[in-house]
Amino acid sequence: MKRVGILTSGGDAPGMNACIRAAVRTALDNGLEVTGIRRGFSGLINGELCRLDRRAIRNIVHRGGTILETTRSPEFETQEGMARAYQTLDRSGIDALVLIGGEGTFRGAGVFEEEFDITLVGVPGTIDNDVYGTDYCIGFDTAINCALGAIDRIRDTASSHERLFFLEVMGHHSGFLALESGIAGGVEEILIPEYPLNIDDLSTRLQEYLKAGKSGTIVVVAEGNRPGISYQIASAVKKKVDMESRVCVLGHLQRGGSPTARDRILASTLGVAAIQAVLEGREGNMVGEVKGDLSYTCFKDTWQKKKPLPAGLTSILRLLSE
Ligand code: F6P
Repeated sequence: MKRVGILTSGGDAPGMNACIRAAVRTALDNGLEVTGIRRGFSGLINGELCRLDRRAIRNIVHRGGTILETTRSPEFETQEGMARAYQTLDRSGIDALVLIGGEGTFRGAGVFEEEFDITLVGVPGTIDNDVYGTDYCIGFDTAINCALGAIDRIRDTASSHERLFFLEVMGHHSGFLALESGIAGGVEEILIPEYPLNIDDLSTRLQEYLKAGKSGTIVVVAEGNRPGISYQIASAVKKKVDMESRVCVLGHLQRGGSPTARDRILASTLGVAAIQAVLEGREGNMVGEVKGDLSYTCFKDTWQKKKPLPAGLTSILRLLSE
């Protein structure tokens, strides 16, 4: 084992740079050379490589985004794309590859390692937090705090105008971001894809808040893989509830910003663990953290198994959000 590669894939997440930094420092400390692959799997296919030494990872721990850039690569889902990716690894003498990304990244990694003789280790990096095998993914805490800041700001104008606000957060198919930011923000309603939406029931509850004299009401809406869905929900509710309403879609704001301490610590811990997993022969796994302990989950489980929402939060959802 002489050289390890690192790439970031899928949606970027605050903390990815802290993870890269920790992985590079650990690899160098163990006598390994490190090659960065730019632009995720697309860059791997096209051989877009760079050397990662201590100088390359200076002053990045606090920076959002990823210095290696990232892509979503449909080409990597093809046999030819994977073959070209493998040739890059072989030609460059890369003995192992650390992949920082979300469930889509590990779906591809699982096929890649089945088709080719390679050593792959994954690190969960996505603001969606929807990867099975780890309590938290890198970027999630920073995204929650971004959404929470928006909720606190919206609360001021909602109260001033006695308005109903629909505040849409990301999360792809999952409701983790909406659930945790909504509870932290003390919002009146949290709509997540894990619970079917009934417009009549929602409207009845909103009407009750109005009668109870709520000055300003916030509904956090998880995009549920349908960005902009809040406009349709607002339009449907408008017909049933006599409240002036507005919509605020946070979108990609949740992807940027300097990572929180929590994300930097998680990213650093998992970056070190990923290199240690390579050295210990734990390939084919994603490293994670479950109840504070390191965990190792095979790629197939990370996306095939559905990660449940934290029961401790769903059980208090109704109590805290009316
Ligand atoms: O997977 C992270 C994520 O931010 C999702 O929450 C969101 O639906 C998606 O990426 C947006 O993808 P893109 O950045 O390609 O528009």
